[in-house]
Amino acid sequence: MKGVILAGGKGTRLHPATSLLNKHLLPVGKYPMIHYGIRKLAEAGIKEIILVIGKHSAGRFIDYLGTGSEWGVSLTYRIQEEAGGIAQALSLADGFIRPGENFVVLLGDNLFEDSLKDQLSEYERQGGGARVMLKEVDNPRRYGVPVLLNGQILFIEEKPKTPKSRYSVTGIYMYDYGVFDVIKRIRPSDRGELEITDVNNIYAVEGTLHYGVLNGWWTDAGTHRSIHEAAARLLDIDQ
Ligand code: DAU
Repeated sequence: MKGVILAGGKGTRLHPATSLLNKHLLPVGKYPMIHYGIRKLAEAGIKEIILVIGKHSAGRFIDYLGTGSEWGVSLTYRIQEEAGGIAQALSLADGFIRPGENFVVLLGDNLFEDSLKDQLSEYERQGGGARVMLKEVDNPRRYGVPVLLNGQILFIEEKPKTPKSRYSVTGIYMYDYGVFDVIKRIRPSDRGELEITDVNNIYAVEGTLHYGVLNGWWTDAGTHRSIHEAAARLLDIDQ
């Protein structure tokens, strides 16, 4: 399987730090944030990774990551001109991912403990469609929240005022090549972005959206506080 890491976007919640440096290059514990996603994919046996980055700090990603050889992977870079949304960033992986291939997508600001190995095998077994990873959280309103019934995701609500479950849809997704056609079917949301939740909801309606649940800790390191929390956890691992 190949890997996609999305590391574009504006990082507005992390101003003023992100006016100097892209969010995914900010230090979290011993390493820049981007290190951890690449390490997770490498540990799961993924050798070919595409990194979607914005124009801001693009050269810095290459300074730090180079070809990816230090992580035992081969990196391809693609630029997202504008922050057009997660699904728009994902569409840029078309071509790197070829017809017939399955792949895993990580949002670059999602930091987590679980290994991806078992979930990737589960995805191979489910035979196509989409798979998302859920995590029980205290404050689901900040995230995409699944509406669950009889072990199925009926649909996902993006940042709902009244969440219908205690789960967040994390930024760990698995797809086959068909996702690029699904992205072509969606339209920009009220905030002008192509939303990954709209993509996943097409799979939900078709009955081909499956899920797993993370057991270990998970952080969306998109705020100053969550970066701080993730750093404390990661420093325990990387002494
Ligand atoms: O962290 C999990 C959450 O991530 C999910 O629960 C939500 O359903 C999902 O929409 C997303 O919500 P956020 O509001 O946290 O997304 P954010 O705009 O912070 O973007 C997350 C990552 O996606 C970011 O690290 C970089 C990448 N991204 C984002 C945008 C908008 C891009 O590469 N390009 C983009 O245009």
